[in-house]
Amino acid sequence: MKIPNSQITPDVWYVGVNDRVSGIFERMWPLPYGVSYNSYLITDEQVTLLDTVESAFFELFLKQIKGILGERPIDYLIINHMEPDHSGSIGMLCREYPQMKLVGNKKTFNMLAGYYPELSNERVVVDDGHTLSIGQRTLQFITAPMVHWPEVMFTYSAYDKILFSADAFGTFGTLDGNIFDRDCCPDHYFEEMYRYYACIVGKFGPFVQKVLAKVLAMNIPIDYVCSLHGPIWTAAHFPKALGIYDQLSKYESQKGAVILYGSMYGNTAVPADIIARSLAAEGIKHIVCYDLSTSNPSFVLRDVFRYRAVIVGAPTYCMDIFPPVKEMMEKFAMRDIKDRLLGVFGSYSFAGQATKKLTAYADTLKWELVGTPLDQLGATGEDDAQKAIHLGRAVAKRLHELYPEE
Ligand code: FEO
Repeated sequence: MKIPNSQITPDVWYVGVNDRVSGIFERMWPLPYGVSYNSYLITDEQVTLLDTVESAFFELFLKQIKGILGERPIDYLIINHMEPDHSGSIGMLCREYPQMKLVGNKKTFNMLAGYYPELSNERVVVDDGHTLSIGQRTLQFITAPMVHWPEVMFTYSAYDKILFSADAFGTFGTLDGNIFDRDCCPDHYFEEMYRYYACIVGKFGPFVQKVLAKVLAMNIPIDYVCSLHGPIWTAAHFPKALGIYDQLSKYESQKGAVILYGSMYGNTAVPADIIARSLAAEGIKHIVCYDLSTSNPSFVLRDVFRYRAVIVGAPTYCMDIFPPVKEMMEKFAMRDIKDRLLGVFGSYSFAGQATKKLTAYADTLKWELVGTPLDQLGATGEDDAQKAIHLGRAVAKRLHELYPEE
C-alpha cells in the first residue's frame, strides 16, 4: 500500500499514522483534533527509519513501510525518543526485521532494556555530534536532553536539509491529507501547540532554550522540520512554530488574565465574573474564565502559559482549598511556571482557609501577588463586590504597566 502524498524529498517518506480513536493523550489530555504519531523512512543505500508509532497502529504502520520498501529490509532504526507513543512498535518491528540495527544514545538503550529486555538486534551507540553514513546521506545526531525526556535527540540530514526534531515543535491534531504546513490551514495546529507545549514539555523550558541555542549556533540550512507530532514544518510556518516554542520556553506571556475558580454552590463564581467585568472595564481584552470543576486542566495550562495574570478563587473545603483548585495550583507548581501575576479570592462559611492558603502560593510559585485578596463570608455582599472590582482594577493596572504598548 503506497499512500499518496507521502514523499518529503526524493527518498524521504512520511510513514506516520493518525490517532482519532484514543480521544485522550497520556490518559490526561483531551484530543479534540486527534493526534498524529509521525515516523519517517529514508530509502538510501542503507534503508533508515526514524522512530516508530504507538503500538495499536503497528499494522497500518508496517503496511505503509512495506508499500514503499516491498521486501527490501530496513537497515537502521534511529530512536530519537523512547516515550511509548513513538517506541511502542519497536518490539514488533524488530521481530519483523531481525537484522535491523538500532541507533540511539546510552540513555536510549538504558530505557530500551527496560521496555524490551528480549531484543537482540545489533546496537549502534551514538552521542552528540556523531554521524552515520547511510549512502548518499550522512546523518548527524544532536542530543536534546530533557526536551522532554533525557534520551531525546534530533537527527539532521544535510543532504535533504531536514531536521528530525523528536517531540520539539510538535502539536496535537491529525494530518488530514496534507502532511506539510504549507499545504493546509494550520491555525488549529498553532492553537493546539500551546496546549501540547504546556502539558507535555512545559516543565522543561530551560532545556528547550539550550537546545534551540545549540541548533541555531550550528547554522545549518533547514528546509523541513519533521516533528513526531503534527505537520512537517516548512518556511511557510516554521518561524511561527519556532516563535511559540521560544516564547513558551522562556515563560514569556501576553497581556491577559486567566480567572480560575471552584464554586460548590455558586458563591465563589459571583466574584469571578465581577473581577472579569472589572478587568474588561479597565481595557483588558484577553480574559478567560474557567470553572475548574468542569474544565480540563490542559486548557487552563495552555492559557496560564499564554497570559500574564492568573486570578484564582476557591471556597474552603475540609479546612483547605477546594480540591479541584488545589490540584490546579499543584499543576502550576509541578511545571515551575515562572513570572506570573497572582490575584486571589475565596469564600467560606466557617473557619475560612482557602483565601489564606491560595495567597501563600505567591511564595511557593514566586509569583507577584497583586491587589488585596478577597475573603468572602457566604454570599457576595456589596462590600465583597467592591473588593472584587478593586482586585480586577489592580490586576489591570499592573498589566497596563507591564505591557504599555498593547
Ligand atoms: Fe510524543 Fe514524548 O512523546
